[in-house]
Amino acid sequence: MWGQAALPLALLLVTPHDPSVLTSSSCLSESYRGLFGGNNVFVVDDACLSSSTGLLGEGSVSPLDNTGRQLVWLEQEAVEDALKSSATNDIASCISALSGVPLSTQDGEQMVMPGSMSTIVVLAETPSSMVVSVAPEVAHTLDTCLPRFWKSSPIPTKPVPYVPISSAATQRVMDIAASVKFDPVVASIVGNISVPQLRKDVRYLSGEDPSSGILSRHAFSKGALQAAAWLKEQFESTGASCELKPFLRGFSPNVVCTYAATEDTTETLLLSAHYDSRGSFGSTRAPGGDDDGSGVGALLGIAHTIARKGVTFRKNIQLVAFSGEEQGLYGSKAYAREMYELGANLTLMVQADMLGYHVPGEPAQLGQPESIGSAAVMQLISNISAIYSPELVVGTTPACCSDHQSFHELGFPASHVFERAGPIADPMYHNSGDLSDREGYDFEQIRSIAKVQFATLLHAAGFDLPE
Ligand SMILES: *[C@@H]1O[C@H](CO)[C@@H](O)[C@H](O)[C@H]1NC(C)=O
Ligand SMILES: *[C@@H]1O[C@H](CO)[C@@H](O)[C@H](O)[C@H]1NC(C)=O
Ligand SMILES: *[C@@H]1O[C@H](CO)[C@@H](O)[C@H](O)[C@H]1NC(C)=O
Ligand SMILES: [Zn+2]
Repeated sequence: MWGQAALPLALLLVTPHDPSVLTSSSCLSESYRGLFGGNNVFVVDDACLSSSTGLLGEGSVSPLDNTGRQLVWLEQEAVEDALKSSATNDIASCISALSGVPLSTQDGEQMVMPGSMSTIVVLAETPSSMVVSVAPEVAHTLDTCLPRFWKSSPIPTKPVPYVPISSAATQRVMDIAASVKFDPVVASIVGNISVPQLRKDVRYLSGEDPSSGILSRHAFSKGALQAAAWLKEQFESTGASCELKPFLRGFSPNVVCTYAATEDTTETLLLSAHYDSRGSFGSTRAPGGDDDGSGVGALLGIAHTIARKGVTFRKNIQLVAFSGEEQGLYGSKAYAREMYELGANLTLMVQADMLGYHVPGEPAQLGQPESIGSAAVMQLISNISAIYSPELVVGTTPACCSDHQSFHELGFPASHVFERAGPIADPMYHNSGDLSDREGYDFEQIRSIAKVQFATLLHAAGFDLPE
């Protein structure tokens, strides 16, 4: 036990998420590092831990070596059992592939050199998650070697605020939901989203269109930079103003596009997807046709329709394509933080991540998150789906968590639309075979979900058409 050793400088504390702990202990709320896999993560000192034990239920405590290493949360994705059996869960070989050295654990024989680049230390572990410490450089590249159904999220190096969604923000979304009724004009606008256009745009991004030449949109790749420039151009051709916003050295930028409000208002609504992708270990191909070419394709399909129909919005609309999602929501964390610091008046945000795949034979679906997201936004989306895309079977998914988490954590009403009312079933998930031209990939489903996203904007923002 660590208690007899020299007093550690800092302790990693992982406990099941309980908002009341964050509001009742100031030392804990000042030590908060965020929500990971349904757990609150803290880096505390001994005094804070001792004074808080009465508040805490189960959990784990691990000493930190405090040598400038990066803590990373590793989590196994919620996937169908049929997929799991074909995957390896060998985190240790990931690490040695990156570093060329065997895994060290704190309980094991191997000693860890403080600050060493080449080691990974397992600090806490459950069957589906792990907290490790690595050199900061390694934290950005773990996605390239992790087993396919694991993903990594960096734990912030400094405390983060805990910002629950305010009741006023929730009420605003509920008021919109309560007022939504079938509008034939909205139906005709969203009905104009074109499947051939969706297919064309997804195929450009995935490189299935040979003229694009994109092999990968991995956040560090040249293809990602090409995709970012192309997306900016595409969105701008529909009347949006776009900016390429770098957020971290080495990563391709976020693409942030705005349609300015016709009314004098700060109110903003945001739809997003991530354009970076992840392929198979050792392959240079990462087409990301479903993950998340489908979500980006939906945003483009909405943008093209805005232009064709001459739609103007009464509130500000942002369509955002994030990068660095696969390394742990880096792009959206930076952008959500920027909006939070600017006091942005964000009514709602909806992330579209993986819209294209369902098991062959299953009906078209729309999955909403079981854990991270605003219940009011989900209610609004269910209402709108029932009205404008009744062909979709709406349900919940344990697949968790895409870029909406970055906004949710800062108190913005946010949610996620997903391709399935159930776990991930796409056999090409995080695989170099994630193309759009394959069995189970359904452009009609992408269009149905895009109709829901678009109708949400039209109802929530208000709009006008040319005379
Ligand atoms: C839409 O959502 C509201 C909750 O805000 C609910 O009261 C209402 O019944 C829903 N309407 C429909 C048609 O489902
Ligand atoms: C969309 O609307 C335009 C005219 O506004 C029309 O030419 C086009 O065929 C429509 N496309 C779809 C898919 O409805
Ligand atoms: C946000 O927009 C709403 C609706 O226009 C407005 O009532 C509210 O005062 C705005 N809030 C801020 C902080 O600007
Ligand atoms: Zn994704």
